[in-house]
Amino acid sequence: MKKIELLYEGKGKRLYKSDNEDLLISEFKDDLTAFNAQKKGNEKGKGALNCQISTKLFKLLEQHGIKTHLVETISDNEQLVKKVNIIPLEVVIRNIATGSLTKRLGIKDGTILPFSLVEFYYKDDDLGDPLVNDEHCLLLDLINENELEELKRLGREINNILKPFFYKRDLKLVDFKIEFGKDKDGNILLSDEISPDSCRFWDAKTNEKMDKDRFRQGLGEVKVAYEEILKRINMENN
Ligand code: TMP
Ligand code: ASP
Repeated sequence: MKKIELLYEGKGKRLYKSDNEDLLISEFKDDLTAFNAQKKGNEKGKGALNCQISTKLFKLLEQHGIKTHLVETISDNEQLVKKVNIIPLEVVIRNIATGSLTKRLGIKDGTILPFSLVEFYYKDDDLGDPLVNDEHCLLLDLINENELEELKRLGREINNILKPFFYKRDLKLVDFKIEFGKDKDGNILLSDEISPDSCRFWDAKTNEKMDKDRFRQGLGEVKVAYEEILKRINMENN
């Protein structure tokens, strides 16, 4: 499978046309950004780690019946994926309060939430990806009511699969962001990636941060943490 033409370059990945019109090549970059790209960095090998982590997690979710855009990995940092139209919403699922939730609502950092909270953020860099409610999504014509319910259901189901998977590997899945796309037949597929760039993982014993917060907060040892996440995901511990 050959890269024919660069279609889109995002903060974390490049998307290329392939020689099959229904499939694209997704290349994971080593770049790291935070705060809407106001903070920039680079960690050699980070792209390959995220590609491997995301591939493992998407395969796990497929085994549990979640439809995803993943076809196969074609190199250390490249996946062959189904072409989809991305729904411009970041779906965030939270189990423990931290990050923007604590700032917005004054909930104490580390509070275990009484239920998994699902939030939507409108993907628009110029607006700084604002939090939106159901009616905002309908108003902006981003999605219809049935699809909104479907995204919430899928978000919770994915959380119900991933949370125990990580807990068995001594990691708390604090929160994570996922994105969905629609294929040419209108099927909703989990797309983008699930990696330490888009999740928060805390070590279950020490609460040490093992995700992109290490970069956001300047804690160092970013790659070491990502390597540890891959190692734990690869543990046979089902
Ligand atoms: P937040 O607490 O900053 O709103 O982040 C919630 C989750 O979403 C966290 O796991 C990090 C992830 N996330 C992204 O993947 N991309 C983003 O642009 C932001 C702001 C958060
Ligand atoms: N991905 C976002 C950015 O660079 C923000 C973040 O993950 O904190 O801008």
